[in-house]
Order: sequence, then structure tokens, then C-alpha cells
Amino acid sequence: MSQDIRTIDPDDIDYNNSQNETFQSVLQARLARRSLLRGAIGSAAAAVFGSVGLSACGGGDDDNDGAVVAPPKPLDKLGFAAVAKSLADAVVVPAGYTASIIYALGDPLNATTGAYKNDGSDGDFENRAGDHHDGMEYYGLSADGKPDAKGSVRGLLVMNHEATSHSGSERASAFVHVNGGTNTLPRPAAEVDREVPLHGVSVVEVKKNGALFGYVKDSAFNRRITPLTPVLLSGAAAGSGLMKTKFSADGKNARGTLNNCGTGSTPWGTTLTGEENWSGYFTRGAADDAARANDKSVASLKRYGRNQGAASRHGWETGGADDKYARWDISKKGASADGSDDYRNELNTFGYLVEIDPYSKTSAIKKRTTLGRFAHESAAFSKLVEGKPLAVYMGDDSRGEYIYKFVSAANWAAADANPADRIATGDKYLDSGKLYVAKFNADGTGTWIELSINNATIKASTLYAFADQADVVVNARLAADAVGATKMDRPEWCASHPVTGEVYFTLTNNSNRTLATVDAANPRAYDDTKGASTKQSGNVNGHIIRLAETADAAGTAFKWDVYLFGAEAGADKGLVNLSSLTEDQDMSSPDGLWFSRATGLCWIQTDDGAYTDKTNCMMLAGIPGTVGDGGKKTLAYTGGKNVDTYVGKAPTADTLKRFLVGPVDCEITGCAETPDGKALFINIQHPGETITSATVADPSKYLSHWPGNAGYGAGGPNARPRSATIVITKNDGGVIGS
Ligand code: FEO
Ligand code: CA
Ligand code: CA
Repeated sequence: MSQDIRTIDPDDIDYNNSQNETFQSVLQARLARRSLLRGAIGSAAAAVFGSVGLSACGGGDDDNDGAVVAPPKPLDKLGFAAVAKSLADAVVVPAGYTASIIYALGDPLNATTGAYKNDGSDGDFENRAGDHHDGMEYYGLSADGKPDAKGSVRGLLVMNHEATSHSGSERASAFVHVNGGTNTLPRPAAEVDREVPLHGVSVVEVKKNGALFGYVKDSAFNRRITPLTPVLLSGAAAGSGLMKTKFSADGKNARGTLNNCGTGSTPWGTTLTGEENWSGYFTRGAADDAARANDKSVASLKRYGRNQGAASRHGWETGGADDKYARWDISKKGASADGSDDYRNELNTFGYLVEIDPYSKTSAIKKRTTLGRFAHESAAFSKLVEGKPLAVYMGDDSRGEYIYKFVSAANWAAADANPADRIATGDKYLDSGKLYVAKFNADGTGTWIELSINNATIKASTLYAFADQADVVVNARLAADAVGATKMDRPEWCASHPVTGEVYFTLTNNSNRTLATVDAANPRAYDDTKGASTKQSGNVNGHIIRLAETADAAGTAFKWDVYLFGAEAGADKGLVNLSSLTEDQDMSSPDGLWFSRATGLCWIQTDDGAYTDKTNCMMLAGIPGTVGDGGKKTLAYTGGKNVDTYVGKAPTADTLKRFLVGPVDCEITGCAETPDGKALFINIQHPGETITSATVADPSKYLSHWPGNAGYGAGGPNARPRSATIVITKNDGGVIGS
């Protein structure tokens, strides 16, 4: 979601009222640890590209057909000319590259569904591409359609459809209705039935035709997963009383997945899709606290953004008497003690990483509850080591939320890279293990604190009365509050460096960060001007923090620094442009983050509203070093307050460049590639999303007409804008970025 015009961005809402990590406590800790600090940074591992390989799992096995492919042949220099900032309603890529549109909102997923007319009359989104293409993964296929981790000619894209374009103050998803839809309540059932399946996930086959890829309209692999698709709850909270609903009296089943943002790809060839801003789709009655007798569920609902009286984003609960509408009202209505006669617990069935087998329509889809419930973004796996646990890194995107990791109880076995049953392999690694939250210390170290019912601090919490581990994972935010986790500047995606194993997190921005709350890991609070006079404050442009585990992925200690601080090139290098970004590198609100397994390149994508007076959202390629390759930097604020942070080595013209700029009012997100590194898939999310129902009638009011104005689909230069997947190839057939 972009930040500029919508009245309330769900990502921006701050539900974290805990008192964690004030500046004073960080300052005291920093002073106390100053001597320790020098040693910690000075001893940072000097791991560089090529010096550390994958430790196991088919990395050197050319014939491995499993999910794990060979380690990258890292590029040491970016081989393209930087793209300039752009306000054009077009996708811009470097000279020598081609960007082709291949799969847009409404495109049919079988031979019998008609072409998308894009005039608001189309329905049947269960058989079409959903809206707001987001996180995405690629899974190779052999020529005869079998799973093949090296398949670079045929493959499957698994893609999130996060949300729909609508005015922040309206309920209807304007572009999918002829006249913009109904914004008063009740919403017509036909409109609700059209909007619900715009959300969820696509699995879609892509195939190379000559030099270019296209999607395969009638592939047997194609499918949509929507907020109504049956799924199983798995792990620590499955079957818990917290999960009992009218739909599932035993608390083991749930319906669908919602507001899917980032993704992760497991080492065994499945997708994890992250449920992000699901909370806002539900309404809760104005007197529901009393209806619940103010029991502990009220504290949970508030912490996850549903105060009593909260209105739902689209009003789907008003579509009719059918259960598929009723579920969007989470008020306590029934007389049962356990919630099996209403949807008072429905909110607890959302907020997970959800595992999907891209190759199998018949395998169960499972919500992996042991990994915690929050506003999930992407999921990054630790470097695999035979016989050792694996870790999954995760961010919770709201202002002041936390960074988490899960460590599996099971030890990695290379044979699991190519299992007979991929979801059963997910059961093995993702249902049992430990959940941790990160505390960033002022001295450049950090601690993973386990969120366990056996932790005395959690048991004694006055924020919420935790009963068992199911309660801890379902209320992970409250457990993290209790143990004093560090409030971060909106953790968006994370990605692990395929060679060093270091883990990078985008902290996209934080308008709430002030001089009173800056800390070492979130050290900036400043004012910026947008356009002629609009003042923006806080951490306006975001940063990318990275961490290196001290021992291994299962350990509880890490070191950290900031790979890059987003900034305008002309901003003050002492307080804002701390990474000395140039005009070819400057960016704001890093969000999507992904490492190429072919080249080791770090791809950084933006979802920005702060710098959009000068440029549309973009994607950059980076060649990062390692944690500790820069040094300590003191931010000397006016008034005498000094904050120390740790900044990675400044990028050069060879190690960070803008690669792409998107059309107007879009977000760049989703990144996947063929294993040979020669085709890069990117999503253009919500071009021209700023729309009201009234202006749908007048194409001259649309901020964007992409991709219609680029010749894709119906509508031409007056087209309603559509989210879409593009594929980028190099004209000489080479590896992307080289
Ligand atoms: Fe869907 Fe926080 O991005
Ligand atoms: Ca500015
Ligand atoms: Ca995002």
C-alpha cells in the first residue's frame, strides 16, 4: 500500500502501546557497553562472496532435482547503466533490457473463462488473476511438467493478491465495478462475491516462447486460492479453544487466506505466503467488550487492531445472511461458552504464514501457527546445514512492531529437498520448534528472546493471561511486548544472503519515530519536505538492517548493522543520507527485498509515498558486503542528543544502482527468477490506485492507465489500470544484472 493519499494505510496503524525500549534505556546500555562494542564490531566475520558455500543439500549436485539449487555465481560488479528517477506512466528498465507484461488483474486461468474486458463488468475472479499482485516465487518444471528445480523454460509462479484499489474512505473496490460500486451499507451480495476472490493467491504456469515468457492460460497447474478456500490449521495453535468457530467446532479448520503480502520459498519446494493486514477486514460490535464480559480476548483484539466498534474495510459482513458474509463480523453473538456458534474467534484464524504446494492441487494448505500470528511479510530461511535446525526469519509490519525468528525442532536432512510429500515435510520442519523475538542492543549486538509459555516473564505478564503455548503463538505480539522486544520502524520483507547467510530486513519507514524514541537500530527522526510544502517527519525514508548470527541459526545472539539508509541524494549526510546515496541510488521506503540465487544480487523494491514528488516507485540492485564492513556513526541531533548507530560500508557506483522505475501511483513488489538467472519476474502493484467511485466514470481522472497504455489488454490509453506481473530479460540473453 502506498503511503501518500489514502486516508489510513493499514500498515501505518500503531497498535503497540507497550513501553519497550525507550531511548534512555538504550542510551544507558550503550554507555555501559561501549568498550564491548569495539570488540564486537572489530571481530565481525570477514566472510565475503565465494568464501562460504552452502553447507549441504545438493549444492554441488548437478543432478539434484529437488528444491535446493546450486549456490550463486556472484556478480562483483553491476553491469548495467543506472535508470534515472521517473514520473512517467511506464515501466523503465536499463538499456539492453526488455520488460514484458505477462499476467494482469483479471486474466483468465483456464480456456473457458473469457478475456478480461476491464470495464467493471467482469466477474468470476475464482478463475482469473486476482488484484494487487504482491510477493511471488518461481518453481521450475521440466519439459514434461514434473518438478525440476533447474527448470528455466517452464515453471510456476505462486503469487499473492494482497488487496484491491479503493479510496481509503470508501468500501467498494472501484475499478472492478462498472460504476465504482456501492459504498453504503449493506453492500450488495454480488459486489462482495466479486471482491472477496480478488484476494488470495494465484498459481500460474509460465513458459518461454522463443526469447520471451508468457503465461499458459489453460495449464492444468493454474489455480486460485481465495479467502474462501478450505485450509487446515497446523502446529501449536491447531485445535486450541482460541480457534473454535461456527465453521470449525474442533478449531482445526479455517477458511481461506487474506491480505497476502510477502512470500518465502521452503527448501522442500513449497511457498509460504504471509497474511498481513487481515485485521481490518473484520468488524466488531460497539458493545462487544461487555458481550465478552471483558475477558482476556478483549486485550488480544485490541493489540491486533480491533477495538470494539471497529468498522470493516469493505463491509463484506453485510452481504447477506449466509455464513460466508457473517464470518466478517467477529462480535460475540452466540450463547456458547467456546465460540463454536459464532465468529468471535475468527480473527485468530488469520495472521499466519500459510504453506502451499505449488505443484499439487490436492495437497492440504496449512497455516503454520507455531511461527506466530502477526502482520506477516516475507519468510527467509537460514542457510541450510545438514544435521542442524533451520531458522525462518519474519517481520511484523506495523509501526513499532517486531522482528521474529522460528527455529525448527527437526534437524535438516538433505534428502528432504526433494520429498515425495512436500506438505508432510512442512509438518516436520514448521510445526515444532521455538519462536523468538529480536532485541537490538545499542552496542551493535542483539539477542533472540524465546517466546515460550515456560518463560516466567511471559507467564507473569500483566498484559495478557497466557494459558499455554497456543496462547503465546496466537498472541505473539503480546508475548513480545512482555519480554521487551525492540520496536522497529515497520519491518517489511526479509531475505537471507545465499552465501553469507546474513539476514536483511527492510524497515520501510515510520512516521511515529521521534527524537525521543530513536535508538541505535532505528536511529533517524527528521523532517523532509514533499512537493512545495508538505512536511513529513519521523524515519521518512526507511532503512535496511541486517544481522549475522554469532554462532549459528539456532543461537540467541547476533550482531547487526544497517546495510543502507534510504534518503534523497541531496539530504544531510550527517543525519539523513547516512549511506551517501547518489542520484543513481537514492530511494525511499524499501519494502520488497530478495536475493538472487543465481547472481547473489540483492534486489530492493520500494513502496513509497515520501519521494513520489520526484519519482515513481522503483527497484534497485545491490551487491552488499557483510555485517560490520562499515563502522560506528554518531548522529548528533540539534539540542545535544547523540545517537550511535552502525552503518555498512557505503555503496559505490558498481555496487548499488537503480534498475527499474514503475508507472504512476504503483508499488514495486514480488521478485522471482528462473534458476539460470536470465528471466526476472516482478510485480507492479496497484498502478493508479488512488481512485474514488465517482471518478471511475472519467478516465481522465485516473492517475495511471498502465498496462493498457503499453498495449496490454483492453482499454488502450484510457484503460483502467491493472496490477500485473512483468518479466525482464536481457536482450543479449545474458544473466540479469551482469
Ligand atoms: Fe503488504 Fe507491509 O506490505
Ligand atoms: Ca522530499
Ligand atoms: Ca509490502
